[in-house]
Amino acid sequence: MTMQYRKFGKLDWNASVLGFGCMRLPTLDGNPYGQNINEAQAVGMIHRALEQGVNYFDTAYIYHEGKSEIVLGNALRGLRDQARIATKCPVWMILEEADFDRILNDQLRKLQTDHIDFYLLHALSKNRWNDIVLKFELLEKSAAAIRDGRIRHLGFSFHDDYESFPRIINGFDHWTFCQIQYNYMDTENQAGVKGLKLAAAKGLAVVVMEPLMGGRLANPPAAIRQMIDSCAVKHSPADWALQWLWDQPEVSVVLSGMSAADQVEANLESASRARSHSFQAADLELIAGVRQKYKERAAIPCTKCNYCMPCPNGVNIPGVFEYYNDAFLHEDIPGARFKYQIFVPQSAQASACIACHECEAHCPQKIPISNWMPKVQGLLGAGA
Ligand SMILES: NC(=O)c1ccc[n+]([C@@H]2O[C@H](COP(=O)([O-])OP(=O)(O)OC[C@H]3O[C@@H](n4cnc5c(N)ncnc54)[C@H](OP(=O)(O)O)[C@@H]3O)[C@@H](O)[C@H]2O)c1
Repeated sequence: MTMQYRKFGKLDWNASVLGFGCMRLPTLDGNPYGQNINEAQAVGMIHRALEQGVNYFDTAYIYHEGKSEIVLGNALRGLRDQARIATKCPVWMILEEADFDRILNDQLRKLQTDHIDFYLLHALSKNRWNDIVLKFELLEKSAAAIRDGRIRHLGFSFHDDYESFPRIINGFDHWTFCQIQYNYMDTENQAGVKGLKLAAAKGLAVVVMEPLMGGRLANPPAAIRQMIDSCAVKHSPADWALQWLWDQPEVSVVLSGMSAADQVEANLESASRARSHSFQAADLELIAGVRQKYKERAAIPCTKCNYCMPCPNGVNIPGVFEYYNDAFLHEDIPGARFKYQIFVPQSAQASACIACHECEAHCPQKIPISNWMPKVQGLLGAGA
């Protein structure tokens, strides 16, 4: 297996096409996000990736309830010069001026290092950009940390609609890289393919997160698996999803949150075959067919055109429909319920709908939006 590398934006450095995402390390108690990491196994997986040429390791202050950085720091003891570390500033935890430096210094201690190679402002959105990044001058604070050597390069990760993406990209001249949620189902969601191309055109390295939609694309429902299995070219669903990303030259690094040693082996093998512009028409057709099949499973024909917005009562209409559809697309009601309750503030949940029907006049799909809201809340809301 020979690892493939790509130039990292404008830097004179090549990153391995596969990056190790330390958000889903193996755990001992069945809670995949908890702090009870199976450290021996996790360290073994990190060492195996390093030995096979992975040189980009992504973690964050909050992952595994604060333990991910510690385990990565332990794993890289004595091996620090072989790895570039990416970690993130939890911008929503910046409540006063001193918080940025306090958290950064804590991260350096946990990671057992004197510098962070790639520092990200975590999960930026329009609101966080305005209310936190600009308000607390996080760009200036980051620049100061670059000058004093604690940070080498600054980037951001992004979770919002595309419209906010150019504002953030163009709002600072010294981004080295960005991290976007991107996979063959999310081409029109969040930054999407437009964001990928914009960032690459501006010379930023693009690091992809959630390449398998958090694992869902590796375990498709039976009808979709059958489509993939009946293809003349035999690859696993996970491999197809990863190769689809690497086919695109704008993608610099694909992060995979690997939770088991066999996933590390499979993804290292996939990465050894990563080539840009390698997909043939038949490969692209397969992915288009799979995407279409997933979409047909959506219960509500919402295309996220946003014409229904803003809702006078604050409901995030396309957002709540997306989680509802996800529950059926991936046959994963508990997963959709978990995300709905975490990511949709209560004031924007379907329960805030008063059935005024104002939105329905604007919906090009003629969706009876108000009728769906109790069903959405009933399936995904607290106590459901
Ligand atoms: N900045 C941000 O806001 C943000 C947000 C999300 C992620 N991230 C970063 O991006 C990284 C990647 O995202 P992600 O973890 O969501 O990636 P992902 O690849 O979409 O999902 C990872 C999951 O996919 C499954 N998987 C991985 N390789 C597989 C294989 N070969 N065969 C079968 N299943 C496989 C595993 O699921 P099971 O564990 O269920 O087996 C694994 O936990 C994260 O680890 C984190 O470092 C950042």
